[in-house]
Parts: sequence; C-alpha cells; structure tokens
Amino acid sequence: MRTILVTGGCGFIGSNFIRFVLAGNRDIRLINLDKLTYAGNPLNLADIEQDSRYRFVQGDIGDAVLLEQLFAEEQIGTVIHFAAESHVDRSIQGPAEFIQTNIVGTFRLLEAARKAWLSDSDSNHRSPVTNHRFLHISTDEVYGSLGETGYFVETTPYAPRSPYSASKASSDHLVSAYFHTYGLPVVTTNCSNNYGPYQFPEKLIPLVFNNALQGKELPVYGDGKNVRDWLYVADHCQAIWSVLKHGHLGETYNIGGNNEKQNIEIVHAVCDLLDERVGLLASGKPRRTLVRYVKDRPGHDHRYAIDAAKIKQELGWQPAMTFEQGIRKTVDWYLEHSDWISNVLDGSYQDYYQRMYGEK
Ligand code: NAD
Ligand code: DAU
Repeated sequence: MRTILVTGGCGFIGSNFIRFVLAGNRDIRLINLDKLTYAGNPLNLADIEQDSRYRFVQGDIGDAVLLEQLFAEEQIGTVIHFAAESHVDRSIQGPAEFIQTNIVGTFRLLEAARKAWLSDSDSNHRSPVTNHRFLHISTDEVYGSLGETGYFVETTPYAPRSPYSASKASSDHLVSAYFHTYGLPVVTTNCSNNYGPYQFPEKLIPLVFNNALQGKELPVYGDGKNVRDWLYVADHCQAIWSVLKHGHLGETYNIGGNNEKQNIEIVHAVCDLLDERVGLLASGKPRRTLVRYVKDRPGHDHRYAIDAAKIKQELGWQPAMTFEQGIRKTVDWYLEHSDWISNVLDGSYQDYYQRMYGEK
C-alpha cells in the first residue's frame, strides 16, 4: 500500500481531492496534515473519518520535528502539498501568515522530504531514479495579470502582484531549486480559479451564493469586468492525479478550465440559478438587483487565462465539466448543505466580513 502525505486536506481542494482518491483507489493510504486554520474544516471529511486508509494529523507544515516524525513513522513516499493561506484579500490585510505558511512552511516540507528521501551522496544528483514524488499545488496568479488577449503558458515569466501570489511564486521557486540542486523528485501544477462544493464562503462564488440567498448586497469589486478562468474542482482533482501518475519530474503543468468569465457574469449566473431554484426575492425582484459595485481590490489582476495545451498533449487531461453543468451542481450542493455554510461561518468570519466590506 502506498502512503501519501496530503497537506491542507481539510480545505476546499484538499478535501475534494482526498475523497476523490479514496473513492477510486483501494491500495492507497492517506495522511492528512492540516493546521485547521479558519479555512480548514474537519467536517469537510466527516464521511471518510472512519476509513482505515485515512489518518488525520492536526499540525503545522512549518513544524520540522513533526514532519520528520511523520515521514519516518508513516514511510511517506509521496507528498501532495495543498496547504497554504489562499485568499488574496486576506494577504492584503495581513501578509505575515502568507510568508510563514506559503514560503517557510513549503521550505520545511521540502527539507523534510529531502532528509527522508535523499542520502547525502544524492545531493547534486540531477536525475534521481526513485518512486518518490513531491507534487506542489500552485496557482496561475504567479504569472501576474493579462490584458485583453494572450494566455499563460508554462514558460510565461513570473510576475506576481499580491502578497498571496508573491508567496506562492516564492514557494514555486523553492520547489524548482530543490529539483535542480538536490534532485528532489518534484512536479508543480499551476491552476486557475476552482469552484464547487466545500469552498470557504470568503471566495466569490460561495460568498455571492450565501449573500444572495439571504437577500444581502453582493459586493462586486471595481467594474466587475475582471476575468477569471473557472474550473470545476473535480476536474482539478483528476488533473492532479494524472500529473502525479504520469507527470515528468522537474516539470510544471498549467491547469485551466477554458472557461473565461467576467466576475459580473459569474455573479449573474449564481443569482439567476437561485431565482430559478428558490424563487425571487421577497420584494418580487430578481437577485441581480442586489449587486453593489464597491471599491476595487488594491492591485486587482485584470485577467487570468490558462493555456492548458501541455497537460492535454502530454497527459491527455482536459476538463470534463462545462461551466453550465458545474455551476448548477455547485448551487444545488450549497442549497442542500446550508448547515455546512452556517457551521463554517463562525464569529471570526463575521469579524473578517465586517473588516473587509464594512466601509466599502
Ligand atoms: P483553502 O484555504 O480552502 O485550504 C487551505 C488548507 O490549508 C486549510 O485546510 C488550512 O487549515 C490548511 N493550512 C493552512 N496553513 C497551514 C499550515 N501552516 N499547516 C498545515 N495546514 C495549513 O485553500 P484551497 O482553495 O483548497 O487551495 C489549496 C491549494 O491550491 C493552495 O495551495 C492554493 O494556493 C492552491 N490553488 C487554489 C485555487 C483555488 O481556486 N482555490 C486555484 C489554484 C491553486
Ligand atoms: O486563480 C487562482 C486563484 O483563485 C487561487 O490561487 C486563489 O487561492 C483563489 O482564492 C482564487 O483567487 P481570486 O482572487 O481570483 O478569487 P476570489 O474568489 O477572491 O475572487 C475572484 C474574483 O472576484 C476576483 O477578480 C475578485 C472578485 N471579487 C471577489 C470577492 C471575494 C469580487 O468582485 N467581490 C468579492 O467579494
């Protein structure tokens, strides 16, 4: 049985990924190391908690002693590294945690893998023959902001513009350095915006869903014309699995949805689906009327768009879900899991929401 260490498995993508792997593989053991920050919710995995192939460890990826212990006692052969501070607006309000987890934490994890997997004589060995894998999950935001045309390819120069994307870019560089310097068997993926079940409601789609359901205003930054390339989370999980199994060491793979939308189109789509599913607002008006244009995000990247030709050509992956199917599934999931939303929206999130949108 192969043992995989998943970091950040109680978050949005990590929890979807753990469920996806356990459903499709009998011979894999998963160790989920998660600090349980505000974004990590053990409820996301309540249904598999008792599975004998799964172990949850509450801890910090920055804790070198814990990491050394885990690598030794679990004979970790594969790392899939999701754990991060992931929200751009929070990185603007308070970057320190992003530096700590995304940069220092990734460094500690790389060090733990290097010590466990490579002997001293392996250092400077550029082509290790090994079954070990360190898969680093990163973002398209490292490439910066596009104008009206063009796409991010794997060779696009890095140009991060927020503390979040700068910290992720830094972690990508560390991962690459460990490949070239020590021969650590790494692969990196850079993915576009995900959506789907279990996404924390600070992010655009679940935030708009939650506000629109309750008849609250929908804060749209700037003119609402910023563009993101949306990918259904299950498609991302499938892409990560393909890269883990068949990706080439030291390479990076862009993952995207071929699905560019302006933010205002996303907001309208969620509003219209809610109107269809639960009826118009009590006032008789459609939910689109709740849109309120607010002060823009500082340094707001205008457009992200992924060219995912490499992963399609080399590994045969492409998204299976259309946006129309995916957004319907997502809205239905949130409607059926209203208890999940109320559980994650505790007091600390209310404070954040007030700080973030109170005076906008
Ligand atoms: P998330 O914020 O939902 O979850 C992050 C998880 O990491 C949480 O469970 C949290 O408790 C855990 N965590 C945070 N700091 C930790 C630490 N120091 N030690 C251990 N665990 C810690 O994030 P997400 O949206 O699921 O994103 C997962 C990864 O995918 C991130 O690396 C992110 O940069 C990347 N990514 C996200 C998207 C997206 O659209 N959400 C797109 C591309 C890439
Ligand atoms: O591109 C991948 C990235 O996608 C990931 O690396 C990040 O972890 C993830 O958070 C996401 O970043 P974004 O900043 O694109 O996602 P967010 O949901 O915060 O915002 C999406 C767009 O919607 C963005 O242009 C800002 C806008 N927005 C967001 C919020 C929360 C609004 O207009 N109003 C809002 O209230």
